[in-house]
Amino acid sequence: MTTFEGRVALVTGGSSGIGLATAIGLARQGAKVLVTGRRQEALDKAVNTHVNVAGLIADVADPGDARRTIDEAVGRWGRLDLLVNNAGAGAIMPLGEADAEAIAGIVAVNVVGPSILAREALPHLAATKGCIVNVSSTFGHKAGAGLSHYAASKAALEHLARCWALELAAQGIRVNAVAAGPTESGALTGMMGLSAEQAAALEAAEREQIPLGRRGRPEDVARWILNLADPACDWVTGQVISIDGGLGLT
Ligand SMILES: NC(=O)c1ccc[n+]([C@@H]2O[C@H](COP(=O)([O-])OP(=O)(O)OC[C@H]3O[C@@H](n4cnc5c(N)ncnc54)[C@H](OP(=O)(O)O)[C@@H]3O)[C@@H](O)[C@H]2O)c1
Repeated sequence: MTTFEGRVALVTGGSSGIGLATAIGLARQGAKVLVTGRRQEALDKAVNTHVNVAGLIADVADPGDARRTIDEAVGRWGRLDLLVNNAGAGAIMPLGEADAEAIAGIVAVNVVGPSILAREALPHLAATKGCIVNVSSTFGHKAGAGLSHYAASKAALEHLARCWALELAAQGIRVNAVAAGPTESGALTGMMGLSAEQAAALEAAEREQIPLGRRGRPEDVARWILNLADPACDWVTGQVISIDGGLGLT
């Protein structure tokens, strides 16, 4: 499979879950892929999955890391065709427990970081007529109790995709988003901060609620990130595609 042969992709948070499945999918189809994350050990494992995958320690919450990240991809392979804004932050945080630092932390990773990375990627994406895919959530457009700041930040990420699509169309840059439903990954015990027991209870509740009767696999979501990035989709921009087993319909 050679759909992405000769192309270069950057996947933030590419050492686990949806980001790793995306990186492997792109690499198998010929792309050179730079994945970022904060932990070296996880990056090393990701790099070992495919010869086309390289890793870089970089924190999306640190605007100073954006230029360095783009430079690393372009310095290695000479171009950039795809930015996948996948790394995310969140918390189950009822309003009564919300504090400014926690809210700012979520917005830094889900809104500010992707924006600064996209800005730094712009000249390179314009040169390749490349594209951006933002990774949102069902809760970017569906209300969720206790999830307001995560959900609002993902709503912002979806709307950034629409606005950027309009703004960048004249440069030939496409921008879309996928809105993932509950997916098997490290997210519940990782970024959402749940204990193993809390995560298991939530997963069981989610399986009950999802019309198609199961949680997603990272590959279910990654497939659509690849589809949106596929040059054959070159008339699709400004769209948010829900990959959630129908959860958004409930
Ligand atoms: N899983 C779900 O149910 C679900 C549902 C809807 C949407 N999503 C969205 O899908 C995206 C990926 O989530 P996932 O479920 O695949 O999570 P995951 O398995 O926990 O993986 C998260 C990845 O992002 C990296 N990461 C986290 N914070 C980062 C930061 N500040 N800078 C750079 N890298 C960072 C992690 O590595 P380090 O920890 O080493 O940095 C890891 O590689 C997120 O945007 C999430 O909101 C997930």
